[in-house]
Amino acid sequence: MKKVFAMILALALLCAGSAFAESIKMGSSIDFAPYEYYDDETGDIVGIDVEIAKAVAEKLGYELEIEDMQFDSIIAAVVSGKVDFGMSGFTVTEERKQSVDFSTPYTTAKQSVIVPEGSAITSVDDLFNPDSAYKIGVQIGTTGDLYITDDVEANGLKHTVERYNKAPDAIVALNSGKVDCVIIDDQVAVSFVNANEGLSILDTAYALEEYAICFAKDSELYAPFNAALEELIADGTVQSIIDKYITAD
Ligand code: ARG
Repeated sequence: MKKVFAMILALALLCAGSAFAESIKMGSSIDFAPYEYYDDETGDIVGIDVEIAKAVAEKLGYELEIEDMQFDSIIAAVVSGKVDFGMSGFTVTEERKQSVDFSTPYTTAKQSVIVPEGSAITSVDDLFNPDSAYKIGVQIGTTGDLYITDDVEANGLKHTVERYNKAPDAIVALNSGKVDCVIIDDQVAVSFVNANEGLSILDTAYALEEYAICFAKDSELYAPFNAALEELIADGTVQSIIDKYITAD
């Protein structure tokens, strides 16, 4: 009998534990397959970043909550404590390091250029031709936006940069001929090109980068989170999550 009571007690404690498990909140722009996106069938938020964040949260005994926000407002939300961390295919940059701390990078990426098939833009060099004037679509506040904006200014180029709130909006603009190309992260470009006819990706990349997770500079979550992430990188969990979403070609 005592055993039964002990079991019930243990069960009750377990239930209470999970009901009151503390949660951590991730800020992310859920428009970026294969890193973070809504599953068409279930409506759930899925993707590489989501699975890595869940694995870390589980290791640390937290529930994971995700807040979908515009990409260019995530760093402010992290700094103000509205969310506990930002994970959204974030490229590590020196400028961002002024306001947030980055985790150990968990993967690498490139900035790619998507063009309509038959485009006059056939290589990244074409974007540096001082005589051409293209409309270049980007997601606002992304490295694609920051780099091309700098390059246009530094080289006195004639292009205009069209900035969109959500990544798919830039693709809609490309499909309707409102922009001549879109600069976006390589794997995301692959998923957009697969889902839309008549688009292709230029062979050469525009920039190379690393993705990491960002935290407020005084965050207490930083050290345990990063330690758990490093373990998941070392034991191959992170790579197996990436492989589940990205098939090498
Ligand atoms: N890697 C780029 C950056 O850090 C783009 C990330 C955009 N992420 C997103 N979920 N839309 O600026």
